Amino acid sequence: MNSKAHWEHIYETKKPDQVSWFEPEATLSLALVRRVAPTRAEAIIDVGAGAATFVDGLLSAGYQHITVLDLSAAALLQAQRRLGERAQAVEWREADVLSAAFPNCAFDVWHDRAVFHFLTRAADRRAYVAQVRRALRPGGFALVATFAADGPSRCSGLEVARYSADSLHAEFGDDFRLLSSDRQTHVTPWGAEQPFTYCLCRYEPHASTRDAA
Ligand SMILES: C[S@@+](CC[C@H](N)C(=O)[O-])C[C@H]1O[C@@H](n2cnc3c(N)ncnc32)[C@H](O)[C@@H]1O
Repeated sequence: MNSKAHWEHIYETKKPDQVSWFEPEATLSLALVRRVAPTRAEAIIDVGAGAATFVDGLLSAGYQHITVLDLSAAALLQAQRRLGERAQAVEWREADVLSAAFPNCAFDVWHDRAVFHFLTRAADRRAYVAQVRRALRPGGFALVATFAADGPSRCSGLEVARYSADSLHAEFGDDFRLLSSDRQTHVTPWGAEQPFTYCLCRYEPHASTRDAA
């Protein structure tokens, strides 16, 4: 089963609050975004957003330039149905984050919770970071959350890579200045604990690497 078929099947057969990664409110992500995007005019993308409630929180906080991207059409539909009319204020993209066409410097904030950790091949991780470099404006922010080094080894039945703050930051490299990291224990809808690592970085490309990206 290819990855898209896997995720479509998940979202077609499970309710939003029946998946292990469900958060009623994306409290930590929202707090970190508010810190780096204070004006509410910033362009924010949530990649691999699934049906997450992060977009609801962004809308409630007053953000006006929100893009939600996921491989799964069924996931996006769940989020759109939940939001009702408010969904019209969001740009929805059904795409693979590794190959999606992003305009250069389109976003001020790139958010990813529980997507990067599925990239178990180094070539895919490099392709992902190249996408972040393309899509983020210099001075923009990447907020990426993965399972922590002592977190589960699988998610949604798939193998994942696990990270400390240092090893996650190292995947992005020196052009991403680590502003802060957090350890968060996510509790699944059935009460299991899953430690996450959150890294918040500012994209500060050196001229040479920016030109090469
Ligand atoms: C574990 S879920 C996390 C969903 C959401 N970020 C959250 O925190 O609730 C992983 C999500 O990543 C999406 N996904 C996986 N690989 C992807 C890819 N290559 N491009 C875009 N989305 C992807 C899946 O469809 C799924 O919605």
